[in-house]
Amino acid sequence: MLPVQRRRASIPWARPRCLSVAQRQREARTGLTLKAPVGSVPGMRIVLMGAPGSGKGTQSQRLVERFGIPQISTGDLLRSAVARGSEYGRRAKAAMDSGQLVADEIVLGIIRERLAERDAAHGFILDGFPRNLAQAQALRTMLAGIGAPLDAVVLFEVNYAEIIKRISGRRTCPQCGRVFNLHDASSGSTPRCDHCDDHPPLVQRRDDEEGTVRPRLEVYERETRPLAQHYAAQGLLRTIDADGPVEEVTARLVATLSSVPSAQPSAHAPQTAS
Ligand code: AP5
Repeated sequence: MLPVQRRRASIPWARPRCLSVAQRQREARTGLTLKAPVGSVPGMRIVLMGAPGSGKGTQSQRLVERFGIPQISTGDLLRSAVARGSEYGRRAKAAMDSGQLVADEIVLGIIRERLAERDAAHGFILDGFPRNLAQAQALRTMLAGIGAPLDAVVLFEVNYAEIIKRISGRRTCPQCGRVFNLHDASSGSTPRCDHCDDHPPLVQRRDDEEGTVRPRLEVYERETRPLAQHYAAQGLLRTIDADGPVEEVTARLVATLSSVPSAQPSAHAPQTAS
């Protein structure tokens, strides 16, 4: 099986918070607090975009290890809000279960809170956000306000037959959150997590069930794919072929990001082979 752990990376924080008047004013205006001084925001700030199941989460995890910056997945944040039964979660659940986008107001509230966390000050990988033009514009305003613009947006291209195969095979461990795929399974018909001590049975995400996949793909084509043109016009877009073995896709992604000046492996991150 192919395990992909979804977890947050935390980076040791080494700087005192020392802000200029201009930055304090920007923070007041945008509602976003970045815990590093304006003009010296280090690290890489990227967006991974692509259809459901194109491998954004899988590759984000590999970039987390390589660059030591956190993955910020709005899907994961929303699922966690639903599981906790928070106000955001209650409002998001129906849209998620039917494969539609959650309201911008909720998603932007969640992303604003997450970007303000300490580990995002050294860069981040946005996985599944933004997903429409309004979110892209809101993100641009937030980041411009704190002097930390995006470095690159990478579009994952995968053919739809492969996407449907990946989504139908995806299973998650309900305890540790690792993501697996049945098509990589070497074990029996009731797959279990081989990382947790009590090996709980893996579960299928509700929105991966057959009836929800088509609306998700339609929403992607209608709302999200047009962002490629939006980011191309800003000179930020890079496109990769995300078909093929995970390691090969990682190699293409890293090669693509090597042209981003801030894409240096973190001193804190364990080095990986690819
Ligand atoms: P979200 O969780 O973001 O779902 P998604 O974008 O549909 O993406 P997925 O998680 O399905 O796929 P992925 O590209 O991460 O693929 P993965 O790496 O897991 O969003 C869920 C819902 O939340 C949305 O529908 C919406 O309702 C809401 N939402 C989220 N963000 C929102 C926003 N910004 N605005 C409004 N609403 C929002 O890979 C898939 C499978 O394939 C895995 O099993 C993996 O092991 C396998 N795999 C990966 N790579 C390969 C490979 N190269 N070869 C073979 N198998 C592979």
